[in-house]
Amino acid sequence: MPVFTDAERATLATLSPDTLPLPPADISNAWSDDPAAAALGKKLFFDPLFSGVLWEGDNTGTSTTLGNLGDTGKVACAGCHQPEAAFADGRSLGHSVSLAAGWTIRRSPSLLDVGQARLLMWDGRKDSLFAQVFGPIEARNEMNSSRLFVAEQVFARYRPAYEAIFGIMPALGDATRFPVLTNATTGCQGVGPTPDACHGMPGDGAEFDGMKAVDQDAVTTVVANWGKAIAAYERGLACGPGRFDAWAHGDATALSPAEQRGARLFLGKGRCADCHSGPFLSDQKFHNLGLKARTVAVVILDPDDPGASTGLLQALADPLNTKSKWSDGDDGRLPASVGPEMLGALRTPTLRCVAKRPSYMHTGQIQALDQVIDFLSTGGDPHGFVGKNELQPLALGAGEKSDLVAFLRALDGANPSSGQAP
Ligand code: HEC
Ligand code: HEC
Repeated sequence: MPVFTDAERATLATLSPDTLPLPPADISNAWSDDPAAAALGKKLFFDPLFSGVLWEGDNTGTSTTLGNLGDTGKVACAGCHQPEAAFADGRSLGHSVSLAAGWTIRRSPSLLDVGQARLLMWDGRKDSLFAQVFGPIEARNEMNSSRLFVAEQVFARYRPAYEAIFGIMPALGDATRFPVLTNATTGCQGVGPTPDACHGMPGDGAEFDGMKAVDQDAVTTVVANWGKAIAAYERGLACGPGRFDAWAHGDATALSPAEQRGARLFLGKGRCADCHSGPFLSDQKFHNLGLKARTVAVVILDPDDPGASTGLLQALADPLNTKSKWSDGDDGRLPASVGPEMLGALRTPTLRCVAKRPSYMHTGQIQALDQVIDFLSTGGDPHGFVGKNELQPLALGAGEKSDLVAFLRALDGANPSSGQAP
């Protein structure tokens, strides 16, 4: 059995406290711990009817897709964040980046324990769960929809549940104030890479189809509340405690000798806990690991992904951020400035329930944990990425590598499927 130093034992206690903390209070969302909001949010998370046209020709109706080219109303949040795949994407061809209306440019992260994060996305470009939803709604390659259509759908299909939580809805059925959209006319229309026309896509004010300012705000409020309900649901998604915690609290048989040796490497020689720290094994910060993006599925990924150097600036400039009027409070989670070390840096993923993820890294280009360890042991790629790689080569032996993989597999939890479809 491996022997742990006092310092390693002290670090171990920070990775496995007596009880795993609940998500910290989220003052950006007054409904974050409201069970009625979470129950509504769960329905919204699994509902595909808020989405527009599937325009990418790879949509051929097979089980790796959400429908056929030209179909509408097929993309739910759960289409890319599946409960059975730790709320990541085990469906799309190649199990790397996701195919919905089109292909995404990064991998869908697991949403287990996402309530622990303050800055979201691989690059930190969103600073709250409620505002995150505007991303997939208004992205042509994801739901290909619009905030106006989402608000109209809430009015048409969820009004009583919404009003019981958030209060009276604006008159979204009044076509003189709110142009009427359908699944076929929301977002961008037409198939293929160049759309025929777009309604409700952001960037040039077009998300509002020429509506009055007061009505624009009414629509954004409904969608922010839609996001606050989904956020309340997402906060309940947790890996939960498992064998690792039982072992850390004195059950010497809960981990095998190989898993225990892996734990020692994680704390010691591997220096993993430098970044994978705290009860969820993430410092929730951004680091450059010198990963050269490779082609995944049929998608050529950006070899010069700037990561958090761009993402954090987007969060600071986001009209929906925690400093905006849409947020119920600002706890200072946004950074004051963005340093040069953020170039090519991505957010450290949590590692609880890591073995359940269909693929690894922000690109999804690594498909198995032993290959992640090979990559880390090498100290990253020699070139083919932007910024400065923070990793040092570890030169792990074959036995050490398999011990580390065994440890990562032991980070399972009791609660991974807390989100069966409603
Ligand atoms: C087309 C696939 C797809 C759909 C549909 C989708 N997502 Fe995602 N999601 C992603 C990808 C890809 C990322 C990471 C993108 C990035 O970081 O650049 C992501 C990131 C997230 C994150 C940030 C997680 C973290 O740890 O930073 C949350 C939260 C999230 N999605 C929730 C949702 C919700 C809620 C919906 C529905 C409103 C949704 N997603 C719809 C693919 C999808
Ligand atoms: C300098 C900080 C840092 C160190 C040290 C570090 N990691 Fe990570 N780790 C990260 C970041 C950041 C990512 C995401 C990188 C990306 O997606 O490009 C990551 C990704 C991972 C992943 C993939 C998870 C997923 O969902 O994609 C695993 C597994 C992992 N690390 C395990 C380890 C182990 C084991 C060690 C020690 C041998 C280690 N890490 C050392 C920061 C670090």
